[in-house]
Amino acid sequence: MLRISPSILAADFACLGDYMRRADAAGTDMFHVDVMDGMFVPNISFGIPIMESVKKITHTPLDVHLMIVQPERYIREFARTGADIITVHYEACEDIDAAAALIHECGCKAGLSIKPGTDTSVLEPYLDQYDMFLIMTVEPGFGGQKYMNKCTGKLSHLRKMLDEHNLDTDIEVDGGITRDNIGTVLDAGANVIVMGSSIFKGDISENISYFKKYFKEYEKN
Ligand code: DX5
Ligand code: ZN
Repeated sequence: MLRISPSILAADFACLGDYMRRADAAGTDMFHVDVMDGMFVPNISFGIPIMESVKKITHTPLDVHLMIVQPERYIREFARTGADIITVHYEACEDIDAAAALIHECGCKAGLSIKPGTDTSVLEPYLDQYDMFLIMTVEPGFGGQKYMNKCTGKLSHLRKMLDEHNLDTDIEVDGGITRDNIGTVLDAGANVIVMGSSIFKGDISENISYFKKYFKEYEKN
């Protein structure tokens, strides 16, 4: 099933509630919450207090992308404050098996992400342990960057690996997705689509309707 996950990193934080209410009214499937620590990535975004505020204003699933070193340290806190999916980075975890186990123990779905320079094959040992794999198509750290074309092959490679293991696991794609390249990432096998700028810059309602309609047509064919 195709789903949209608007990244609140692209919202105006002074009126985050308004931005999210508009996205909810337009029927968003979830919200993508980008947590950055200034260590794993060269930027700091937000953390637990924002989760607590956000959880009060929406019932839509929160898809939390932890771009922090040793994310295991904070899994319980993000689960407690309302995360539905918690994604950790392959490059940042000390023990990838233990991270999946802890996320599940906390009652959340587990995601594992790789940066553009990390080979997809590193995910193979963990295919049956995670509910979602997140392929970064920009260097993590900032919204509004350009999609890296060289990452398209990673999506199709991962979909092929999952098919070979008879797994129908979600593949999330994150970074630089627009109206121009949405078809490319869907064709390559992604089914959970993160978008920051393409949703929150401009008319939120029109943007979400556009992509939801696109997904509907795509699923028909
Ligand atoms: C980048 C973040 C992305 C980013 C996406 O580190 O993980 O989720 O906010 O923003 P756009 O869609 O503008 O590239
Ligand atoms: Zn993200």
